Amino acid sequence: MKSQLPLFPESASSVAPQVDALFYAWSVISLFFTALIAVLIIYFMARYRRRHEDEVGLPERAPIWLEIGWSAIPLMIALAMFAWGTQVFVKLYRPPADAVTYYGVGKQWMWKFQHPTGQREINTLHVPVGQAIQMKLASEDVIHSFFVPAFRVKQDAVPGRYTSVWFRATKPGTYHLFCTEYCGGEHSKMIGSVVVLEPSQYEAWLAGGGTGQTMTLSGAELYQQLACQTCHGEDGSGTGMAGMAPRAPRLAGLYNTQVTLADGRTLVADESYLRESIVNPMAKVTAGWQPIMPTFQGQVTEEQLTQLISYIQKLPGDGAPETAISAVKDQAP
Ligand code: CUA
Repeated sequence: MKSQLPLFPESASSVAPQVDALFYAWSVISLFFTALIAVLIIYFMARYRRRHEDEVGLPERAPIWLEIGWSAIPLMIALAMFAWGTQVFVKLYRPPADAVTYYGVGKQWMWKFQHPTGQREINTLHVPVGQAIQMKLASEDVIHSFFVPAFRVKQDAVPGRYTSVWFRATKPGTYHLFCTEYCGGEHSKMIGSVVVLEPSQYEAWLAGGGTGQTMTLSGAELYQQLACQTCHGEDGSGTGMAGMAPRAPRLAGLYNTQVTLADGRTLVADESYLRESIVNPMAKVTAGWQPIMPTFQGQVTEEQLTQLISYIQKLPGDGAPETAISAVKDQAP
């Protein structure tokens, strides 16, 4: 951000050099062929121009090796570019194992962020340098798009489901954050910044961030407020209320496992599935259960949904002696 009109954005994430290398290589290849074809057109125009009034063109047959060559070589170049691009794409969208999940919600016209430790911010996101961060995105209204040019990452925030992108910032600083999907009248004002801090500074920032209730703990409280335990059990075990037949499937250990639906389909219980099952429970009913769950559409905000899901993800699996909420409270910093 030194010059007012930089030719290229700053490079401040672990994937940025790879994205740049790919971009430069493609630019050079494209420019080379554009120039080559332009020069040949001009040369052939001059070389094979009509010299006399009565000149007639002759059918020309290119040698077979030439025809194979100009088909096979560009094909191989295109395939190599495809393979290289795919490799960078996969790297961009598959977070490493040490990634920590942050949540971002797009809303006309602002970005709302929540840290794993519970702190919230609007239009500014503080992150520690060197830490892999997975940004899970949702939208409260229309499609927005999370774009940090210095990190070379961009991902749409789509209503009704979760999308994700990740980055590892490599140097402290303040970087632009944009919404890059036209989302209404003040789209161009839906901007902010990502502040990359040294880990110790980040810790200090978190400590000063006030209400450090973790997302999971907020989710645990919501679980009780919304009376989820009435059917899904106090600890998410699916046992329901004491002395009554179970009415709802087990939630503990459910996250990222395979679920069979009433119509025979199977799917993985990811965030989007959990979210849909809260706001629209009839959409995908688990096999063996009655479709009796009420919808919570309109009763919980996008942020509360992410908190509930964060809680469901952390519900202890089999044989947990204590209730899930006390277990989660123990984990809280
Ligand atoms: Cu949000 Cu454009």
